[in-house]
Amino acid sequence: MTEITRNIGLSLGADICWPACYENIMRRLDLRIPHDGQTLRFNVERVMIEPYDLRQTCKYDVVIDRLTHWYHTSREWIKKAIVMDGLYVFNNPWAVQSMEKHTSYCAMMRLGMPIPTTWMVPPKEYEPNPDLQPTLARYAKLFDVGRLGPKLGFPLFVKPYDGGGWRSVTKCDDEAKLRQAYEESGKTVMHVQAGVAPFDRFVRCIGFGPQVRSVLYDPDAPLHDRYTMERDIASAGEMEHLRKITLTINAFFGWEFNSCESLRRHGVWHPIDFANPCPDSQVTSLHYHFPWLVKAYIKWSVFCAATKRKMRQTLDWEPFYEIAAGSGSFEEKLDQYAAIAEQRFESARFEEFCHQHLPHLDEVANEFFATEDAKTAVRQKVTALFPAHEIEQFTELFVNRIQEWRRVEGA
Ligand SMILES: Nc1ncnc2c1ncn2[C@@H]1O[C@H](COP(=O)(O)OP(=O)(O)O)[C@@H](O)[C@H]1O
Ligand SMILES: [Mg+2]
Repeated sequence: MTEITRNIGLSLGADICWPACYENIMRRLDLRIPHDGQTLRFNVERVMIEPYDLRQTCKYDVVIDRLTHWYHTSREWIKKAIVMDGLYVFNNPWAVQSMEKHTSYCAMMRLGMPIPTTWMVPPKEYEPNPDLQPTLARYAKLFDVGRLGPKLGFPLFVKPYDGGGWRSVTKCDDEAKLRQAYEESGKTVMHVQAGVAPFDRFVRCIGFGPQVRSVLYDPDAPLHDRYTMERDIASAGEMEHLRKITLTINAFFGWEFNSCESLRRHGVWHPIDFANPCPDSQVTSLHYHFPWLVKAYIKWSVFCAATKRKMRQTLDWEPFYEIAAGSGSFEEKLDQYAAIAEQRFESARFEEFCHQHLPHLDEVANEFFATEDAKTAVRQKVTALFPAHEIEQFTELFVNRIQEWRRVEGA
């Protein structure tokens, strides 16, 4: 049989651990997948940064992109390759560029999700601009940010409208703190958002294509303990609810991978941050859950490259809006949103593909995560983040948690 090579590109910035594990497991899998009378082989390589001719062709079938939300030259290369060569990219760069947190709140409010009440306020300071003074003098209404306090209740959160990395997030327990947070916000455009407080559960759901993993999250713990290892998170019905929320959000925005934060209060799950389309994939945060994520990367990228499924270049929101405008409870609508998502992510075909062509992945991954190579990947990431005297201690901690995963879930 003729061999055909599918090329998977990794577009990376500071990532160290997951690509090393991904590449190693792909080598061990040594895939040969029969397809239309041919045999598919897979070549994985890291995408380099270099000048390019706009008409040059693209060798990749799939690119996993974790760089271009901030590195613009590569973003433009990826956009060119989608437009001209039909490249499939995780994630759609236009969706990442334009769907910041604010827009994601608006869209999911329209679908009926119980997003906390959120106000946007004009910034405290501005970049100099010749039109600024006349514009503000004519049109900017004087406002008192303190009045939002009684409207939204305390505590509330002042945070950037585009979010990301816990930057400039302030919890305000009273009006003085609210005023202070606004005074200190400078040129950043801020949201003022009602707090979901007190909440009794905080869950982060990582979605990767049709795959979803929900993790109980502890925002007050040190960074390496925020993703907890607790597996008794919520009832089966609630877990299913969170899975559908995640799939709906990701399908709506055309995001192949993303993480969604939801808080539970009085039995209601409130999504509060779900525009994280380059989700944390580091062993130093995910530890126990890291092998699941590496496997999710492999499964979805191999499925997309092997089947040459077409990347959805335009987003097509109408079917979601039609459901939103219809009758029925939110839960009934959520079932219908999720059905669209399952269709767009081809859940059934994906499951069948993994069953047929990746049956050995569990065993190969389980073996790999016991090796020195796996430990080296963990140590390299720890070395990049931790002070010298903590490297051994934290490498051991993360490696031990991965061994715990092997015992509980890997076999
Ligand atoms: N409305 C809210 N209610 C309760 N906690 C919140 C709320 N908004 C933010 N937080 C807390 O602040 C953290 C950071 O806010 P988030 O919206 O996730 O910003 P970022 O985009 O920087 O991650 C959240 O993980 C949560 O702990
Ligand atoms: Mg967040």
